[in-house]
Amino acid sequence: MRTLGLVLVAALAISGCFGVDRNNFKTCEQSGFCKRLRALKPEKSQYVLNLDTVIVHGNVLSAEVNTMDYEGDKKVVLWHYALRLSALVDGTFRIEIDEADPLYPRYRTQLALDGEPAADGLRLASNENGKLTLINTQGHKVVITADPLKFEFLNQKGEVAVVVNENSQLFVEPLRVRKERVDDEDGQALDVEDESAWSENFKTHHDRKPRGNEAVSVDVSFPDADHVYGIPQHTDRFFLKTTTDGEPYRLYNLDVFEYELDSRMAIYGAVPVMYAHGSSRSAGVFWHNSAETWVDVVNYAEGNVVSSLVNLVTGGQKRKVDARFMSESGIVDVFVLLGDRPADVFRQYTRLTGAAPLPPKFSLAYHQSRWNYVDEADVRSVDENFDAHDIPADVIWLDIEYTDRKKYFTWDPEKFPRPAEMVANLTAKGRKLVVIIDPHIKREAGYFVHEDAQDNSYYVKDKDGKDYDGWCWPGSSSYLDFFNPAASKYYAERYRFENFPGTSKDVHFWNDMNEPSVFSGPEITMPKDNRHYAPPVDGADGLSSFWEHRHVHNEYGLWHIRATKQGAMDRTNGKYRAFILTRATFAGTQRYAAVWTGDNMAEWGHLAATVPMCLSLGAAGISHCGADVGGFFKYPESELMTRWYQAGAFQPFFRAHSHIETKRREPWLYEPATTALLRDANRRRYALIDFWYTLFYEHSIDGLPVMRPLWQEFPEERDTYAIDDQYLLGDKLLVRPVTEPGVSSVKVYLPGKDARVLWYDVDTYKMIPAQGYLNQDVNIAKIPVYQRGGSVVPRKERVRRSSALMADDPYTLVVALDHNNTATGTLYIDDGETTDYTDSQYIYAKITYEPSAMTYSFDSRKSPHNSEFLSGFIFVNENAHFPTRSWLERIVIAGIKTPPKTAKLHQEEKQTALQMTLHKGNDVLVVRKPGASMAKPWKITFSY
Ligand SMILES: *[C@@H]1O[C@H](CO)[C@@H](O)[C@H](O)[C@H]1NC(C)=O
Ligand SMILES: *[C@@H]1O[C@H](CO)[C@@H](O)[C@H](O)[C@H]1NC(C)=O
Repeated sequence: MRTLGLVLVAALAISGCFGVDRNNFKTCEQSGFCKRLRALKPEKSQYVLNLDTVIVHGNVLSAEVNTMDYEGDKKVVLWHYALRLSALVDGTFRIEIDEADPLYPRYRTQLALDGEPAADGLRLASNENGKLTLINTQGHKVVITADPLKFEFLNQKGEVAVVVNENSQLFVEPLRVRKERVDDEDGQALDVEDESAWSENFKTHHDRKPRGNEAVSVDVSFPDADHVYGIPQHTDRFFLKTTTDGEPYRLYNLDVFEYELDSRMAIYGAVPVMYAHGSSRSAGVFWHNSAETWVDVVNYAEGNVVSSLVNLVTGGQKRKVDARFMSESGIVDVFVLLGDRPADVFRQYTRLTGAAPLPPKFSLAYHQSRWNYVDEADVRSVDENFDAHDIPADVIWLDIEYTDRKKYFTWDPEKFPRPAEMVANLTAKGRKLVVIIDPHIKREAGYFVHEDAQDNSYYVKDKDGKDYDGWCWPGSSSYLDFFNPAASKYYAERYRFENFPGTSKDVHFWNDMNEPSVFSGPEITMPKDNRHYAPPVDGADGLSSFWEHRHVHNEYGLWHIRATKQGAMDRTNGKYRAFILTRATFAGTQRYAAVWTGDNMAEWGHLAATVPMCLSLGAAGISHCGADVGGFFKYPESELMTRWYQAGAFQPFFRAHSHIETKRREPWLYEPATTALLRDANRRRYALIDFWYTLFYEHSIDGLPVMRPLWQEFPEERDTYAIDDQYLLGDKLLVRPVTEPGVSSVKVYLPGKDARVLWYDVDTYKMIPAQGYLNQDVNIAKIPVYQRGGSVVPRKERVRRSSALMADDPYTLVVALDHNNTATGTLYIDDGETTDYTDSQYIYAKITYEPSAMTYSFDSRKSPHNSEFLSGFIFVNENAHFPTRSWLERIVIAGIKTPPKTAKLHQEEKQTALQMTLHKGNDVLVVRKPGASMAKPWKITFSY
């Protein structure tokens, strides 16, 4: 929630003039390094590897790289660089290029990686004709050409999957000392320095650039790729477009008021991972850099923008995508992910940056938020209205106004005098509270956080080393410097129950404004020459004793949520899982928090944008993604609100939220017919709550997106590559939300024709063989969702007030048969809130159906994908168990051709004959009340 003052918002609302103020944000042309690097287009790379210096030791090749120039015929070395190429497990390589002897250390991004990546073996296979060939233990190869420097990465089939520096755009601007001005006798400067190297202006803001130019860039080519994807967060399509006709995609965490759609402008998040996909393979690169970054893309198969150029270069249409990453500072540090199936590249990325740990179950249910629920009575009435209208809800949210005048870790004493009782009232129904805590701190004498931060030097400093003073919600504000371990520790401790009275284990946190948002700063964020903590090093002074904000900007929010997560876990000594929502994102965010897409608008286009935006974040490791349901700004009329609830019910993070100036819009405030539709959408979510929970458990093990592009599961099917208005949940449900007004049918693509995949409409169990596009009739109640044949989906049909109250309820298993009359599925069960699952207190069951029998078993084997996973991933454990009281109420088998005559349940020593009903016409067999306990394995045998 946000921003430039209510007066402005109100004025805009009245004039009806909504839209981003582009003038507040830089174009590439206005960003010194972007302009500089984009203009550099050498015919031949100046970078040359010195073959005499090559050493291969362990998993690392190291060598000296030099930039060379010619003076006449003479080659001269301009600058020395150090190259490290490392082989990492699971088909990943890393290239690092730093100056051999930099004037000061160059910043290396600190928090994105989930620990040191695990090494693979690396062998130098040949060194001849100026080319080195290296091989890892799995048969992936790297061919390095020395002059000019080029890296080709080959997959196990020997195909070139990724090329680095093919287009000669590798650059590392060396750090240097500013030359003293030397004048001649007439007072004219001799040797004039380029002033832009040492300062930059944007609007009224001046950036001192004390280290001068220090940009880095690299180009990456993906042969045979149809498209590239990733580098969230943007409001553009899921696949990335050629940028040569305009702005590059920008990655710079910014609080963009009323962001616009179909744009490459930077918004709140920046995850510099890119995936390429085509029918031959998938591959990817992760650009490990936290500074402002711009990314150019050229898709040679795309339209006519570059086709003449392509024909010139390749002599015909060839599939290939080139990309170029340009960052303001840091080193060249690029991970190459060699796939080569989509799931492989997604996993390779989360293996580096981590998967999300299992979230508390309530966080997958429905959340009700608004800026603001104004007082305790308001909270109580919202809470009671959910019950009065029989609409399930798990969480009520409080935005900034709950605080004592925007001082975080306090409550407004008039409006929220009894927070502990308010929370207890919610938890009595299994509900939770989430409160907002932002990183800016009100500069007010007597406010304990401010005084402690000031006294202990916990604030980010300005360019002169004084506490930086910016403008945010509280007015004059300073920002905690989470890079300082003492500041992070102090902040984490604020979350302890004794330090934040009124909170309990059922109060969770929303970290907003952590780009960071600074209303008075350049581009509504912090000046780049602000100073952050750097660990003290002997003899380090001046520029070596701090990092500038420019180095760490995109990482700031990550440090913020890390401190919050630490505090939220520590307050219960790690006993209860904590839920955090963040707005800023970077690589690794998934380890700490869920994400929403920020301040969107109650417009159909914004509803449609939720799908590509969350697909992109999901592919970038951040599965727990959602958008403000209903839209933050403006008011959604009934049809839009209905479609948005229906879409949100099938997206990972499901929260309604709205701006303070908009009309109230809790579900019961619409006319009864609409309220009924919103209720129905919520109830569908709750019926599938254990399906969602199982998907997130599986994500925590395999690191794969929960919300998936179709091409992840159908990589050869070219028609799926550009589809971003529908998606898969796991590999089981296909969702195509209705995001258009006034439609009576929508186009849906059902993939898998060649593999004879069957799909089942989840509302009717009607079987639809995969056939590509079809028209699906949609009345206002219809949410097009299809279950894949061959899958089993667990449901809970007795929807209650909150997910916690449904914990012991019985299950319905929906079995959708494939062509072979078989199906498999999984079910994860635990207590939903503690960390006891890390101590084997859970069930991870495998469910299989064959015509002769259906089994529910506790698989003790590790799945092949996770056997080598880094620490932090939990393996399927053979001793795991959980004493659930849930039982099996019903089995629905869809697509049955020959129904069995009898069914018998076997559990422990008992055998029970079961009743069945056949629903002819749609070939659905229902096994009624098997009554098996879900705490123990069971088997049902069928006879014909
Ligand atoms: C808690 O619920 C009780 C019973 O409904 C009510 O009287 C009380 O005012 C509530 N407390 C708060 C702080 O909302
Ligand atoms: C059916 O079973 C055969 C043999 O196991 C397998 O090759 C095929 O992929 C299966 N077909 C479907 C649609 O699952």
